[in-house]
Amino acid sequence: MGKIFHLVSLKHLLLVSIALNVSLILRVINISEKKILHSSSALVSKNNLHLSSSSSLTSFANARIEAQDGEERVINLDHGDPTMYEKYWQQEGDKTTIVIPGWQSLSYFSDVSNICWFLEPEFAKEVVRLHKVVGNAIAENRHIVVGTGSTQLFQAALYALSPQDALEPISVVSAAPYYSSYPSITDCLKSGLYKWAGDAHSFKKEGPYIELVTSPNNPDGFVRQSVVNRSEGILVHDLAYYWPQYTSISFPADHDLMLFTVSKSTGHAGMRIGWAIVKDTEVAKKMTKYIELNTIGVSKDSQLRAAKVLKVVSNSCESSSSEGENFFEFSHNQLATRWELLRLAVQKSGQFSVPEFAPQFCTFLSRDFKPQPAFAWLKCEQEEVNDCESFLRSKKMLTRSGKHFGFSPKYVRISMLDRDQNYNLFVERLSNIISS
Ligand SMILES: Cc1ncc(COP(=O)(O)O)c(C=O)c1O
Ligand SMILES: *[C@@H]1O[C@H](CO)[C@@H](O)[C@H](O)[C@H]1NC(C)=O
Repeated sequence: MGKIFHLVSLKHLLLVSIALNVSLILRVINISEKKILHSSSALVSKNNLHLSSSSSLTSFANARIEAQDGEERVINLDHGDPTMYEKYWQQEGDKTTIVIPGWQSLSYFSDVSNICWFLEPEFAKEVVRLHKVVGNAIAENRHIVVGTGSTQLFQAALYALSPQDALEPISVVSAAPYYSSYPSITDCLKSGLYKWAGDAHSFKKEGPYIELVTSPNNPDGFVRQSVVNRSEGILVHDLAYYWPQYTSISFPADHDLMLFTVSKSTGHAGMRIGWAIVKDTEVAKKMTKYIELNTIGVSKDSQLRAAKVLKVVSNSCESSSSEGENFFEFSHNQLATRWELLRLAVQKSGQFSVPEFAPQFCTFLSRDFKPQPAFAWLKCEQEEVNDCESFLRSKKMLTRSGKHFGFSPKYVRISMLDRDQNYNLFVERLSNIISS
């Protein structure tokens, strides 16, 4: 395509980055170097590895770790792996450390008086407290169902909301671009209860349906509302990103069924803990039943660890000096820097665009700011580039094509939550893609 692309050495990358924006980049590099010096040797060696994948780039199984071999590094920003948050948690040291003695967590049961009998009371308490502290959802006097990530709760919700005696599966829709896992999870077992029916904008079928409302949305970061708006619609609100590091908190959400996860709120994706806030008792019972059939509950060890993490986050918001730095202020600032760098790189390159957002008042941070999503929804603006994912792959940057989100392949989704080292290399490489 007539583009001259040099395999540049790290030295060159640094020089170009300094030209791009001296103060910002230096600040970030300084911080990341300091952090790397202070972090464990295990992490340093992990940072020197890189992820690369072969043909299909959308499956976790395809992400292989390979040692660096002198060649230009492959930068993998395909998954939303939230390793950006390591920095905060390293800084906080032992505050979230818990010890679980060998005699603990033997029983299947956590609280037999609760509809969700495998819900650890300590975890439920910290969920309610955190939502109150942040003001992003009403969790008091609601049912809470814990899940192995919000992914399991999404499936539990489909099971619970589908009519059990219908002649055909209920349609499941979401407005494109939608989270790429919704179609594959919905249809993986070819359920007789529910069936993926695609983009909510073009959904015309009569009768009941389930609409997934993701707000802020993955992949594009916009705040959303339902779009089909018919009386027979059942809504599931996936609020994984409704936290003040990503978007302004404008009111406490109070929908019938809301999904949250530690993966995107605190960055602990590996803990595999999510929670649903549910109004209807029968729905909460059925979701609990699904998880009972699927995994007979949810790891108690993970719930106890999640409770501790949420508690430390709430403490960091409530008091100032003694309890460490406010978690949301810290991660909000990390993302603000990253979005600033991305917009500079897009501007310098002139070959791409990213969404523009309007500022909104945040009741939690008490100021106006623009959304700074966990993903960048990048468009290849070059007329000759129809497949943005392939174009970036040829420059050793792995992203996820818009086609997986029910959208145009001129777009890709890029994770904004990787480690500094990877992210900085990415923006530098992007800024160097210039028109021939
Ligand atoms: C909108 C949305 N919902 C759910 C999930 C999955 O979260 P979990 O790790 O809790 O299963 C993701 C992860 O990327 C997501 O983007
Ligand atoms: C559907 O309802 C939402 C929420 O009430 C509203 O914001 C939106 O404009 C409606 N959409 C359409 C297409 O009518």
